[in-house]
Amino acid sequence: MASDQWTSRIGFILAAAGSAIGLGTVWRLPYVAGTEGGGAFFLIFLILLLTLGSTLLLAEFVLGRRTQEGAIRAYKNVASNGNWHWIGILGMVTAFLLLSFYSVVGGWIIAYLVRSFSGQVTSPPGGDYSALFETITANPWEVGIAHLAFMVMTILVVQRGIRKGIEKATVYMMPALFILFAVLVVRSLTLDGAWEGVVFFLQPDLSAVSGQTLLTALGQAFFSLSLGVSVMVTYSSYLGKSENLPRSAWSVVYLTILIAFMAGLVIFPSVFAFDLEPDEGPMLIFTILPAVFGEITFGSIFFTLFMILMLFATLTSAFSLVEIVVAPLIRGKEEQKRVKMTWTVGLLIFVLGIPSNLSFGLLSDWHIFGDIFFNQLDFLVSNILLPIGALLISLFVPWKMSKTDLQEELLRGSNRGNSFFSMWLFTIRYIVPIAIVVVFISMLAG
Ligand code: PFF
Repeated sequence: MASDQWTSRIGFILAAAGSAIGLGTVWRLPYVAGTEGGGAFFLIFLILLLTLGSTLLLAEFVLGRRTQEGAIRAYKNVASNGNWHWIGILGMVTAFLLLSFYSVVGGWIIAYLVRSFSGQVTSPPGGDYSALFETITANPWEVGIAHLAFMVMTILVVQRGIRKGIEKATVYMMPALFILFAVLVVRSLTLDGAWEGVVFFLQPDLSAVSGQTLLTALGQAFFSLSLGVSVMVTYSSYLGKSENLPRSAWSVVYLTILIAFMAGLVIFPSVFAFDLEPDEGPMLIFTILPAVFGEITFGSIFFTLFMILMLFATLTSAFSLVEIVVAPLIRGKEEQKRVKMTWTVGLLIFVLGIPSNLSFGLLSDWHIFGDIFFNQLDFLVSNILLPIGALLISLFVPWKMSKTDLQEELLRGSNRGNSFFSMWLFTIRYIVPIAIVVVFISMLAG
C-alpha cells in the first residue's frame, strides 16, 4: 500500500496529463500527422483517443486505485497465482528503455535552449539549420552533458516523492506549458499565410486515409496517453478512494487533446507561412521551427519559449517513467530508500541512453538490422513492447478482476450508471484487445 498520496484530484490530473503530454504529443504527433496527410490523421487520432484510449486509461486507473499498489503488486493483489505480475515487470523494463532514448531528446532540447539564449539557433552560420542540428547532435560532449542534465533534473524531482516532488513540480509546469502554448498559437496564427496551415491541419482529406493511417493513429493514441506501461496504474495508486475515476480520465484525455491541437496550431501555420514542407519527419521542430522563428520579429525569444515548453512537457513524462520503476523497488521502505533508488535508477537509465545518444555522432555508422541504435530501440519500445503491454493490461483488468470490484471502483464517486459501466466493460473486453492485435499483426506483416 502506497504511503504517499496526491494532495488533490487536480494534482493527480495534472501529473497524469503531464505524463501523457510529452514528446509524443508535442513533437511526434505533428510530424506524423505531417507525413500522414494532416487533418485526416488528426481526426482519426482524436476519435481513437476518445474511444479506445480513454477506455484503456480508465482500466489502468481502476486497477491502480483498487489495489493502491504499483506496477508489480497491483497484479499480484488481483491474481496471486500465475505470472501476471510479469506485466508489471514488462512495464518497468519498457519504461527503462523508453526513457533511455526519450531523455536523449530531452538533452537536445536543453542543448538548443542553451544555444538559443545566444541567438545562435535562429540564425546559424550560413542559415543552414540542418547542419546546426547535425553539429549539435554529433558533438558527444555537448549532447552528453545535456542528456545528463536532463536526467539529473528528473531525479531531483522524483527523489522528493509524489506530493513534494512530482505533484509540486507539475502543478507549476503544466499551467506554464498551457500559457506558453497559448502565446505561441497567437503568434503563429497571426503570421501572413497561416491559414493554409490551419486548413492542412484541420481539414480532413479522407481520401488520404489508408489502413496504415489507422494503425499509426492507434499506436500514437496509446503512446500519447502513456498506456501499456502501468504508469497510469502507478499514478492512480496514489489517488484517494473517493475520487471520481471516469471524470479524471476524461480530464486527462481532454487536456491531451487540447495540447495536441495547440501543437498543430503552432507548427503547421508557421510551416506554411514560410513555404516549408510539413512532412519533414522527426527533425520538424529542430530544423523547421528555428528557420521559421528566425524570420519573425523577436523570433529567438519565441523559439526559446517553445524550447522551455518542450522541456516541461518532456520532464513531466520522464517523472512518470522513473516513478514506475522506483515505486516497486522501495515499497514499504519509502522513507529510507527513495532517494538512493531514484539516483540509481535515473543514472542507470542515463548510462543505457549513451549508445542512443551517440547514434547521431560517433556511433552513426553502427547499424543493427539496417538502422541506428536509437531508431531500433524506439521501434522495439513503441511498436512492440508498448502494444504487448497494452494488450496484456486490456486482458488482465476485465478478465481477472471481478465484475463487482470493477463496477464498484469505476462508479464510486461518479454519477454514471450501469449502462456506462456495461459499455466500458464491453469495449475493454473485446474491442480494445482485438484492435491492438490487428494493429500489431498488420505492423509486423507490413
Ligand atoms: N505519453 C508520453 C508522450 O506522449 O510523450 C510518452 C510516454 C510516457 C509513454 C510514459 C509511455 C509512458 F509510460
